[in-house]
Amino acid sequence: MTVFFVTGGAGFIGSNLVHHLLEARPECRVVVYDALTYAGNLDNIEHLLGERCTFVQGDICDRDALRATLGEHRPNVLFNLAAESHVDRSIDGPGAFVNTNVVGTFEMLEAARGLYGALTGEAREAFRFLHVSTDEVYGTLGPEGFFLETTRYAPNSPYAASKAAADHLVRAYHVTYGLPAVTTNCSNNYGPYQFPEKLIPLMILNALEGKPLPVYGDGTNIRDWLFVGDHCKALLLAAEQGVPGETYNVGGNTERTTLQMVHAICDALQKERPREEGSYRDLITYVKDRPGHDFRYAIDASKIERELGWTPSVVFDDGMADTVRWYLEHRDWCERITRGTYRRERLGLDG
Ligand SMILES: NC(=O)c1ccc[n+]([C@@H]2O[C@H](COP(=O)([O-])OP(=O)(O)OC[C@H]3O[C@@H](n4cnc5c(N)ncnc54)[C@H](O)[C@@H]3O)[C@@H](O)[C@H]2O)c1
Repeated sequence: MTVFFVTGGAGFIGSNLVHHLLEARPECRVVVYDALTYAGNLDNIEHLLGERCTFVQGDICDRDALRATLGEHRPNVLFNLAAESHVDRSIDGPGAFVNTNVVGTFEMLEAARGLYGALTGEAREAFRFLHVSTDEVYGTLGPEGFFLETTRYAPNSPYAASKAAADHLVRAYHVTYGLPAVTTNCSNNYGPYQFPEKLIPLMILNALEGKPLPVYGDGTNIRDWLFVGDHCKALLLAAEQGVPGETYNVGGNTERTTLQMVHAICDALQKERPREEGSYRDLITYVKDRPGHDFRYAIDASKIERELGWTPSVVFDDGMADTVRWYLEHRDWCERITRGTYRRERLGLDG
């Protein structure tokens, strides 16, 4: 039986991945290992816990706890998603990013090396370490061109630099120790269970309360948007069929400026929950740009399409409508998750 180990499985992408694994592989078991930082929420997966899905609260930097959990469950496939993930927070406090994203990934790799080293035969053949990274490691693009897997790394934020460092360690563990590791670099995800400090849930929740919708700078920065469900399919595919040592870019072929994105959110919301006076777009306000804000990210995902047969299947307008509907139907979830210290305030202005 395949046992998947998902670090960061109580976060946004991780919890979507846990749902996907349990559904797509009915014979598998999933072990979620998550420290439950401000961004992790057991609510995201609590309904899945049972015979096939186990939750362990633990830090990937905690060597003993990590190894004890791996030793107990002996997973065949490790998905490393645990991370500090918010660029603005990395500007305010980069230390936590170096700790979790770099040191934590190192601890994961060391533990995986130990597990892999003890395997023989089919179990050794099937073992995989799937590291989840970001397109932000490539730095910024001008108006033309796309990030390829061969694009030179040029991270600009502390977040991006910490992810880049982790990617290099993963590569080195494959080359040096033969660890069967695969890395994926994806663009901005959207969908259910995203912590409300990120653009889409932040805008939806602010709009519903008639609060300003803060757009950084002049709103012309461009990102590629990927529906989280499509991303999860790519992760499972890369884990099962990806070639060890390879990296795969995963993108949604959906470039949008920040302003276009906020308009799309407002318009989807207007359809579902019409604003009593005027349009949600009237709430848009322009705020000081993020220091070192990359201008444009755009992914060329032709390698994973060509080699593994993956393409994004969700049309942006449909994905956005579903996402807006999900947040409308889960206001209690939003309430609970923001009850901690985060209150949708502006982060990341230290420059
Ligand atoms: N969200 C995106 O658009 C996006 C884009 C590209 C890459 N990524 C990458 O995908 C992964 C998941 O991102 P996300 O958006 O789901 O993040 P998230 O912030 O929603 O979730 C991160 C999870 O990791 C857990 N965690 C944090 N530190 C930990 C530690 N030291 N030990 C164990 N668990 C810890 C948190 O509790 C949380 O559940 C990250 O590696 C991120 O860099 C995300």
